[in-house]
Amino acid sequence: MNQKTELSRYEVPSRPRPELGKVLVTGATGYVGGRLVPALLARGYTVRVMVRAASSEHHERWPRAEIAVADTADFTSLVSALDGIHTAYYLIHSLLLGPKQFEAAEILNARNFRRAAELKQVKRIIYLGGLGDMQTALSAHLRSRVQVAEELKGGAVAATILRAAIIIGSGSASYEIIKNLVQNLPVIFIPRWAKTRCQPIAVRDVIKYLIGVLESDATVGRAFDIGGKDILTYESMIRTLVSLLGRKKLFVPVPFSNLTVYSYLASLLTPVPAPITMCLMAGLKNDVVCLDNAIRRVVPFEPLSYRESLVLAMTREEQDDVRTRWSDAYPPAWELAIKLRELKQPPEYTAERAILTDKSAARLFRSITHIGGREGWFHSNWLWRARGIMDRILLGVGSARGRKMYSSLSINDVVDFWRVEDIQAERLLLLRAEMKLPGRAWLEFRIDPVNGRNRLTVKAYYQTRGLLGKTYWYMFLPFHYFIFDDLVKQIEKRS
Ligand SMILES: NC(=O)c1ccc[n+]([C@@H]2O[C@H](COP(=O)([O-])OP(=O)(O)OC[C@H]3O[C@@H](n4cnc5c(N)ncnc54)[C@H](OP(=O)(O)O)[C@@H]3O)[C@@H](O)[C@H]2O)c1
Repeated sequence: MNQKTELSRYEVPSRPRPELGKVLVTGATGYVGGRLVPALLARGYTVRVMVRAASSEHHERWPRAEIAVADTADFTSLVSALDGIHTAYYLIHSLLLGPKQFEAAEILNARNFRRAAELKQVKRIIYLGGLGDMQTALSAHLRSRVQVAEELKGGAVAATILRAAIIIGSGSASYEIIKNLVQNLPVIFIPRWAKTRCQPIAVRDVIKYLIGVLESDATVGRAFDIGGKDILTYESMIRTLVSLLGRKKLFVPVPFSNLTVYSYLASLLTPVPAPITMCLMAGLKNDVVCLDNAIRRVVPFEPLSYRESLVLAMTREEQDDVRTRWSDAYPPAWELAIKLRELKQPPEYTAERAILTDKSAARLFRSITHIGGREGWFHSNWLWRARGIMDRILLGVGSARGRKMYSSLSINDVVDFWRVEDIQAERLLLLRAEMKLPGRAWLEFRIDPVNGRNRLTVKAYYQTRGLLGKTYWYMFLPFHYFIFDDLVKQIEKRS
């Protein structure tokens, strides 16, 4: 994406102020942060991006930004990340920790951040949290958003708080939940909570507000509700999408409204896994609408309607131009996710299939990188799908996550229940398993030149210690040989 396109995407009604000083963006690998960084760079800001782990992918993604490695749970790392920073965006979210753990983790993270910012005399913190009236009984997720805001603004550093309801954009969790429910259900059940009111906002308007408040001194130390043009019930949000997609659906009111059951069902029917659907859907009983529109005077522009945001999200999907997705943030198991090349000893269980071919490495690699998502696994798709369904039932990520984009693949991108650990053009694709497993697993696609031809290899690596893990490996071994045999042939055929 070039700078001009980036600027025209976010037409902010204020003048860029790079003279303010260095800006830190936390949560840069996440959905919102990942879109904010290029927008700030395009406006001329000097940006330091905070990530939890160093990766070559970050330098490729943000070549003009500084990269700082820090974890909000580690105060010392935060102090160096905040050194020399004028304004720090706080876009940290720990939803993937699940409903039981995230609330405490979020408060601790915010406290550490505020203290480190005070120590480094940061001038301002800008936080994007959630809408919700503390006078009402908020869901744990919404309550935690408010608590984080309180924590951040309770110190010596001036804070600007933005509060949003659900964000609609390509790759946003809420959009993918609504879209997949509409696409997959012939009958839409309307429980009581479907009448709750919400004011969704387009992700591009969120980015405009995040930049707009940085460029306006009038926003220092203040909190603002931000929302799109419409206040809608969840039922009317679903109806709008049904009409946009030109579908016919039967809407049936139901008395049963247990949110835990609905969120579990949503995790089975949509790509978004249970820890996220449970946190997000628990808030469906709370109205989330802007209580005041002061932001419209300070950062004046006309926000998009819900329908317009849906159209934009669908357009980006059609164009295969989904810039960030909810699946970009690492799962909690990531910290334990040792890379294949980092293991002290190579995994003792492996299964591989190889084929010699005259096809060029470029064509083979292209074929490999189109694997998964809507293209499927080229053969025996039902077996892959069955494994995904099994995982979903066990509250795992399942295979419905698909891919963010179909034309490109980068380190950390999700491919069904895998995540890209390594990718080397025309040579290698290494995927790490994120499904529920009694061990660690990787799937490697490799292209090696052999006497003027190319050898294409698909190899599974599995590391386990327990009896359950060993049983699992031997149980699936016949399937591996059967699947891999076809997989190499299909990749070669499609190249
Ligand atoms: N998305 C929405 O629909 C929505 C709606 C309203 C408000 N918001 C607010 O917007 C903010 C950003 O949300 P998002 O959807 O962009 O979140 P997200 O996609 O889940 O990303 C969360 C980010 O936080 C980082 N993170 C988590 N724990 C961390 C830690 N201990 N130290 C350092 N980084 C950590 C993650 O890094 P890793 O990649 O290393 O895990 C990731 O970059 C949140 O405050 C959220 O409440 C979002």
